[in-house]
Amino acid sequence: MRVRCSSWLCSRRNSAARIKERKDSIALKRPVRQKIMNHSIAILGSARSDGNTARALNRLIQGLPCETIDLNQQKIAHFSYNQDYENDDFINIVERIVDAPVTILATPVYWYSYSAPMKVFIDRFTDLLFSQKPLGRKLRGCKFAFLSTGNSPHPNETISQAFSSFCDYLGIKNLGMVYACADGPFYEEPPVLNIRNYIRDAAESEKRAVLPNRR
Ligand SMILES: Cc1cc2nc3c(=O)[nH]c(=O)nc-3n(C[C@H](O)[C@H](O)[C@H](O)COP(=O)(O)O)c2cc1C
Repeated sequence: MRVRCSSWLCSRRNSAARIKERKDSIALKRPVRQKIMNHSIAILGSARSDGNTARALNRLIQGLPCETIDLNQQKIAHFSYNQDYENDDFINIVERIVDAPVTILATPVYWYSYSAPMKVFIDRFTDLLFSQKPLGRKLRGCKFAFLSTGNSPHPNETISQAFSSFCDYLGIKNLGMVYACADGPFYEEPPVLNIRNYIRDAAESEKRAVLPNRR
């Protein structure tokens, strides 16, 4: 049986409980501002989605918070001087790149150069110097890494140099370049470790920034 308490102490308790209930319900209704965790991104630009480059890339990012964007599954128009693009995916991808701790460009060597999908993608960065300047400015200070595969036992100097100059021109920090001959091991281990450590450390500090401070 519920006993109704008529003392002043009891009514004070009841009103205190009501106030707390109200405060709790207001707190529940208030929208929670959440910072979203940004993953690193790998752009795969090979003529095949499951070839040597895809396999080398999977080894490079294994176990790390890094999402692969396969250019075969994206609509990326060729560069146009008139900036004439019909709803393609380029700007969407760059918006994710500028928020990503690390971006890896992964390409096979085709005829001493980037693959065609990777070249088309890279050409479009020209838009970020003209019609998309505000977004282009956000690229400054972004961290990029480069992965290539080829049949030659050594990395191709022409595309390594091209990637390096691309980073310099856009103010991007080059975290390192890795190379694998066909399906073989990486040519050098230090840049692999450097890139992996960078992705891991960036994810850890993002996690600390996203998690609310507990008192
Ligand atoms: C069209 C084409 C051109 C290539 N040109 C080169 C080249 O110039 N230098 C080289 O070392 N390998 C060359 N290769 C070999 C590929 O770079 C190598 O097999 C690479 O690992 C393939 O990666 P994928 O499976 O992602 O396409 C070429 C292969 C193709 C299909």
